[in-house]
Amino acid sequence: MAAVLGIETSCDDTAAAVVIDGALASSVVSSQPVHIQYGGVVPELASRDHQRLIVPVVRQALREAGVAYEDLDAVSVTHGPGLAGSLLVGLSYAKGLAWGLDVPLVGVNHLEGHLYSLFLGGQEPSLPFLCMIVSGGHTQIVKVTEDFGYETLGRTRDDAAGEAFDKVGKLLGLPYPGGPEIDRRAPAGDASFVRFPRTHLKGVDFSFSGIKTAVLYYLNEFSDEERVAHLEVHLDDLCASFQAAVVEMLVRGLARAVKQTGIKEIGLVGGVSANSGLRSALDRMAVKDRWTVHVPEMRYCMDNAAMIAAAGYRKLQAGRVSPLSLTAQPALKL
Ligand code: KG4
Ligand code: ZN
Repeated sequence: MAAVLGIETSCDDTAAAVVIDGALASSVVSSQPVHIQYGGVVPELASRDHQRLIVPVVRQALREAGVAYEDLDAVSVTHGPGLAGSLLVGLSYAKGLAWGLDVPLVGVNHLEGHLYSLFLGGQEPSLPFLCMIVSGGHTQIVKVTEDFGYETLGRTRDDAAGEAFDKVGKLLGLPYPGGPEIDRRAPAGDASFVRFPRTHLKGVDFSFSGIKTAVLYYLNEFSDEERVAHLEVHLDDLCASFQAAVVEMLVRGLARAVKQTGIKEIGLVGGVSANSGLRSALDRMAVKDRWTVHVPEMRYCMDNAAMIAAAGYRKLQAGRVSPLSLTAQPALKL
C-alpha cells in the first residue's frame, strides 16, 4: 500500500487529502470566509488562517481516510505559484512532517495539481491532450505530451479569466468571489442584452482586461441612482452578456489550439471550469467538432488538495521527489 498526503495552501483554501494506491481516500477543504468582507483575498489574513487550520484539516483528512501519520509513504505539497505567506505555511508544515516521518517530500506545482484533477475518477484523458487551465490567477492552454511533460501554447497577457469574473462581479455589486455569482444569474438573463467586446489576440493568447473596462464604462454611463435602478432590472442580463463574451473568447482560443495541433482530446480545469456556460459551450464543440472533453467533478474544480495528492502520488511513482530545501515559489511556472 502507498499512502500519499496532499497539502494545498497556495491562496485562501486550507486543504488536505489522502490518496491510497492511486485512489482518493479523503479530501478536506476549509475555505476562509474572513476575505468576503474585503471583496478579495487579504494575503496576511490568509496565512494567519492557514496557520490556524493546517493541523486540524490534515488530522481530519487522515481520520477520514482511516490512516495514521505513520502509514504515510510521502507528503506532497503545493510549493507555487501562489501567495508567498500562504505557500510557506503548507510547505513548512509538509517539510516538518516529511522529515519527522522520514518519508519523501513531493513538491507539486499548483497548476500541475489542477491538471491532475482530471485523473480523480471518471474517464481519464489519453496522451497527448490539450488542457485549458482557467482559474483566478491563471488562464493558459497547455499541450500535455507525457506525464509531467508540458508545452504552453498560449496564456493571458493580462487578467486571468476568473479575475475578470471577480472584478466584474464587484462592479455589479455581487459578493466575492464574483465567478459563481455571475454563473448562478447568467442562465436567467438575456446574453444578447449588451454585446461586450471580444478581444482576440493572434495565436492562442488571451486578454481579459478589455472586457472588464467595457463593463466599467457601460456602468459609468449611468448616474448613481440610474445605475441602481438599471441593475435592479437587468443584473441577470448583464451577467449573461458578460459570461457569453468570456466563454466565447475562451472557446475561440481553444479552437485555435486544436487547429494548430490537430489534437481533439481536451481537458478543462481550474475554478472557472465550474462555469456552466463554459461547460455547455465545450459540450457543443464536442458534438460539432468531435472534441473529447474532460472536466473534473465540480468539487475538484476549485482549489483542493485531492488534485495535489493525485499529482504527488504519480510523481512519487515516477521517483520525482523533492529535497527538504524546496522553497516556496510564488511565480512558479508550469
Ligand atoms: O482554481 P481556483 O479555486 O483558485 C485559483 O487557483 O485561482 O479558482 C478560483 C476562481 C475565482 O476567480 C472564481 O470566481 C472562479 O474561479 N470561479 C468561477 C466559477 N466558480 C469559480 N468562475 C466562473 N464561473 C463559476 N461557476
Ligand atoms: Zn487554483
